[in-house]
Formats: sequence, C-alpha cells, structure tokens
Amino acid sequence: MARVSTTNELVSLIKLTDFSMRNTNLFEHLAESVRDSEKFAECKQFIQHGSVSVYEHSVAVARMSFAFAETFKFSDKQSLVRAALLHDFFLYDWHVPERMWSLHGWTHPVTAANNARRYFNVTDKEWSLIRTHMWPYTLLHPPKYREGWIICLADKIVSLEETLFRRCPRSTCLPPPRLGAISENRR
Ligand SMILES: [Fe+2]
Ligand SMILES: [Fe+2]
Repeated sequence: MARVSTTNELVSLIKLTDFSMRNTNLFEHLAESVRDSEKFAECKQFIQHGSVSVYEHSVAVARMSFAFAETFKFSDKQSLVRAALLHDFFLYDWHVPERMWSLHGWTHPVTAANNARRYFNVTDKEWSLIRTHMWPYTLLHPPKYREGWIICLADKIVSLEETLFRRCPRSTCLPPPRLGAISENRR
C-alpha cells in the first residue's frame, strides 16, 4: 500500500503541469507576441516527446515557469516567459535518424537562442536563458540568472510528464509533414 501511495504522490507532483495560474491575464499579455506569431506556430510541425509537439511543450514550460515566478515573486516575468516559450525554438525534427544520433542535446540550445534572436530580437538576457536551459546536460553552461534556473527546472518537470504520460505507439505518433527547410533555420 505504501508503494501505491508513493506512486500516486509522484504522479501528482509530475502532473503539476495541469496547475492553474493566478494571474492568467498577465501571462497571456506577456506570451502573445511570441506564442501567437506565425513563425512560432512552425513549432507545431515538430514532435518533442511522445505525442506532444514542440509548440505544446514550450507553452507548457512557459506556463509552469510563470507560475513558479509568481510563487517566488520574480520581477522580470517578461524575459522569463519569452525565453521559456523560445527555449526549444530549433525548428527541425530531431527524431529523424540522422539527428537522433547527432549532438542535438548539446547543440539545440544555441540553435534555439540564435533563432530567437533572428526572429524575435531577444535581449542578451533572454538569449542566455535559452542557451542555458539544458543544464546539467550542458555542464559548462549553467544558468546565469535565477529565471534561467526556473526555466531549467520547469523544462525537466514538463519533459518528464510528457515522456511518462504522453507516449503513443510509434505507428500512430509520426510527426506531421514539415513545411520549412531545416538548413534555413540553423546558423
Ligand atoms: Fe531543450
Ligand atoms: Fe524543452
């Protein structure tokens, strides 16, 4: 029985991605310039984990980061929300065989940060928040700002929830066809 209880508590913790925010209007205001753009909508073409698109994953990370920032009363919520939305803005399918064996895990933070600068003119701080979100995977690049630690943590929790609970059979989980060329979005 103790094991069942522990499992349920773990599920509840991971399902934090379902929590609601107190200040939804502020989140909507901070998110809309990126989230509602045509360029960011391209993330809907690519799968991140299981059946979850990069778009859906990024919005979930932004929502959780914002809720953490509210809890800890961070002031710079604008940079936090923009960077969280753009943290995986790499614009390619990393599940194709040639990429699965590549250095995607190490290189995509830089690709996403450079794409964010190219298409959304992010600040140096926002660029850094995106660049460091994969720590400790990118061991030599830890977050420089406390907003970076929040995005890093939210990304891990959301990714775990998606990997454990949003899986689907490979035959029914193929990514939708891509519209853009990979090389166009990489620097
Ligand atoms: Fe990432
Ligand atoms: Fe992510």
